[in-house]
Amino acid sequence: MDAIVALAKRRGFIFQSSEIYGGFNGFFDYGPLGAELKKNIRDCWWDDMVRRRDDIVGLESSIIMHPKVWEASGHVAGFTDPLVDCKESKQRYRADQLFWEPVTVLTPQPTPIEKLPLPDFPSEPAGNGMWSNTIGYVSALESERTNAELHEKALELKRKLAFQGQLHWEVATARDFTVATERDIPHIPSPATGKPGSLTAPRSFNMMFQTNVGAMTDASSVAYLRPETAQGMFVDFKNVVDTGRVKLPFGIAQIGKSFRNEITPRNFIFRSREFEQMEMEYFIHEDADWAKCHEEWIVWCEAWLKSIGLPASHLSRYTHPKEKLAFYSRGTVDIMFAYPFGVQELWGIAARGNYDLTQHANASGKPQEIFDEATKKKFVPHVIEPAVGVDRILLAVLCAGYAEEEVKDEKGAVEKRTVLRFSPRIAPVKVAVLPLLKNKPELVAVAQKLHAKLKRKYAVFYDEAGAIGRRYRRQDEIGTPWCVTIDFDTIEKPGETFTLRERDSMQQRRITEAELFQLLEEQVY
Ligand code: GAP
Repeated sequence: MDAIVALAKRRGFIFQSSEIYGGFNGFFDYGPLGAELKKNIRDCWWDDMVRRRDDIVGLESSIIMHPKVWEASGHVAGFTDPLVDCKESKQRYRADQLFWEPVTVLTPQPTPIEKLPLPDFPSEPAGNGMWSNTIGYVSALESERTNAELHEKALELKRKLAFQGQLHWEVATARDFTVATERDIPHIPSPATGKPGSLTAPRSFNMMFQTNVGAMTDASSVAYLRPETAQGMFVDFKNVVDTGRVKLPFGIAQIGKSFRNEITPRNFIFRSREFEQMEMEYFIHEDADWAKCHEEWIVWCEAWLKSIGLPASHLSRYTHPKEKLAFYSRGTVDIMFAYPFGVQELWGIAARGNYDLTQHANASGKPQEIFDEATKKKFVPHVIEPAVGVDRILLAVLCAGYAEEEVKDEKGAVEKRTVLRFSPRIAPVKVAVLPLLKNKPELVAVAQKLHAKLKRKYAVFYDEAGAIGRRYRRQDEIGTPWCVTIDFDTIEKPGETFTLRERDSMQQRRITEAELFQLLEEQVY
């Protein structure tokens, strides 16, 4: 991850926001190459989701909507995360990301109260004639190593207290802070200080950013930056139905910024406070086979991720357990991606029944129904919602594409090359045009002509500085799939061919201009 973050900065993909002022936690800027990469991800999604389908239309709704939207949607009351404060360090944690365990030691006899580190926890019978003694608590933040870290800390605590007996340790999955009781909380160490006594009980923290609209700054002017783009599609549902010539089943798609005051933004751009979503609400008949439609959308999303270059080996599915779903939800499946920091949610595909439209109908007093010609009855459509973050996809393609390799240079010496294996669909630069020598006007003239032609349609890069091998390496590092070199064969031999060098195989072959355009036409779509 460190190498990827360093490359992202070095080559101008991603910068920390407001870096010259020390940065601003949870916010990021996309540099020249990052902006291109992000635009390509957005454009591919929009083309495949909206333009190339007959059943989906686009929308661009406002970021700040009437505050009643967020009351009806349930966000004002319920868009919360459980927050825990460390009173000593002033650090804040999400309770569901803070894990803990009591540390118990088995002894053949009960331990006298005065010899126990926690006197309010007397020894308890543990079966087989043994006694269980709680000697303290350990805590660790969520990571790939949470359980291992808790175990190490438990051993360390036992060693430090020199408590005789056998450590009783059988955690497969540690408990998180949301289930800590009043008895546990005072003994759970703060991850910041390593000492108990400073963590508060969890309290609900609403993640919506508030602002005020108009000249007055009082309760009546409070509004919110949207925490998701989805509500725009629900609130404009009737407008689209009345103007868009759409017929069920149909979808409304939107790409745009969303804002969440995340308690613990982390893992680079994976969880940030300002991010971009690509969401689509697919409306279906109330009697339609929602499970079939849900599955079709999951398959579609998986195929789309592969089409932009994410390897199938990094993708998996997580089905939310029924008991954890909201009461209205029929089912949610997340497409997971194996990031370097663990397998995490990339794309959520939810079957939401008719909850959202019904909520807005009730709150606004405006029915959100469709007339069924067959039954001559009105009904509220149900919805399947694939919702994904652009930044999470961008991070996934960076992680999946990054490689460090040992290769031989022109003279046969082994050197390291860093390469980003982006799919040509999303690569920020599609082709680099390289005249072999910059002091040969006849080479430069052909190269500039080709560059001018290519850039009318594609993002291309012209580079004449340095040895050709070094120029190839520079393009490898930013993920350019092809380099075209204009060399002496181009101008001396008939047929005007160029050397085409492929990033992944590093193989070279000769190609004409027409063949180059055909290759791009096939691969960049
Ligand atoms: N309308 C449904 C909805 O917003 P979500 O699971 O909260 O569902 C959808 O968000 C997607 O948006 C996630 O799967 C993730 O890709 C992205 N996302 C959510 N919170 C994010 C954050 N803080 N930073 C970056 N991406 C985020």
